[in-house]
Amino acid sequence: MPQTPAPKGASPLRHGGAVAGGGADPVAGAARLSIAPMMDWTDRHCRFFHRLMSRESLLYTEMVTAPALVRGRALHLLAFSPQEHPVALQLGGSDPKELAEAAKLGAEAGYDEINLNVGCPSDRVQSGTFGAVLMRSPDLVAECCAAMIAAVDVPVTVKCRIGVDDQEPREVLPDFLARVSGAGVTRFAIHARKAWLQGLSPKENRDIPPLDYELVYDMKAQFEHLHLSLNGGVATLEEAEAHLARGMDGVMIGRAGYHQPWDILGAADARIFGAQAPLADPVEAAEAMLAYIAEHVAAGGRLGQISKHMLGLFAGQPGARLWRRVLSEGAHKPGAGVALVQEALDAVRGARESAEAARREGISHA
Ligand SMILES: Cc1cc2nc3c(=O)[nH]c(=O)nc-3n(C[C@H](O)[C@H](O)[C@H](O)COP(=O)(O)O)c2cc1C
Repeated sequence: MPQTPAPKGASPLRHGGAVAGGGADPVAGAARLSIAPMMDWTDRHCRFFHRLMSRESLLYTEMVTAPALVRGRALHLLAFSPQEHPVALQLGGSDPKELAEAAKLGAEAGYDEINLNVGCPSDRVQSGTFGAVLMRSPDLVAECCAAMIAAVDVPVTVKCRIGVDDQEPREVLPDFLARVSGAGVTRFAIHARKAWLQGLSPKENRDIPPLDYELVYDMKAQFEHLHLSLNGGVATLEEAEAHLARGMDGVMIGRAGYHQPWDILGAADARIFGAQAPLADPVEAAEAMLAYIAEHVAAGGRLGQISKHMLGLFAGQPGARLWRRVLSEGAHKPGAGVALVQEALDAVRGARESAEAARREGISHA
């Protein structure tokens, strides 16, 4: 596995913090800004890349189902690089014993947190009684969490919706939080919209049910002792800062973090954590990936498995389109590796120079 030296200071111990209301949660501090669990997106390569840009924020895995780990013994799904800390494993499941066993496997693999998915609406997940459908069974969720908490020493957290289908979020969500926190969970990420389990695709379920941030703020006021992160539709760090200013303990960002990683992660340490940004420029992030890519390709991996997560690195900047094009057209060709990334970087540098020359020209004509 690629083993690039850990960024200085990237230790889970630096991220400690008392949970709102007490109790030790060594990753609560990092949860001030987290990158959401996203299937096919936040795999280990993506997380390694994200971590180069932010040492402080909390990263989540894709969902891994408890049956895959416990019954399928698919332990390769737990592999990650030590540089990724602090990193949380998200589990899917609804059987307390199986989830406890899966949580134990996750903690033994070195994850800093185990998170239970109570938000994912996909059919496959519904049929296994995981994900958002569990909003209907808060006592079962509490039982699952109690079993996981008993099995591991790392924090057990929950990512949930505000309700599903015809549930009334103002009734359901406080009841859910009360019951699940009663089992010992002190940290939640709340996707501030319902999931409609019938008739909407998972993708539509991330956009169509309306966001209700006020409800999430109200939950923070009502459950002051819990650490609550708001998730859903947060597109910029300015918006994240506004939610924190409204009293939220954390903000979890999904799609914007993936599509504009530099804008979100590259600025997060300075703006959200008051720490020094590890890198000054997205070019440095690409350069810092080269050794990791070389090792992956040398071990028989494909460039595209890593470079697909890097396509948005220059989003909104000169050269963004060229960067995307060179990588997406070339990454799947046989032999593609570091040289292609360097070629794409040269294209970005060229576009930057042209943009700078045009800017100067503009100034001299002004
Ligand atoms: C491609 C993709 C895959 C996702 N997979 C998961 C998942 O495995 N577990 C989960 O809890 N949520 C998953 N989500 C939902 C996100 O974690 C997040 O709640 C959602 O995208 C809303 O946040 P955003 O508006 O900041 O993207 C996924 C979202 C996307 C876009």
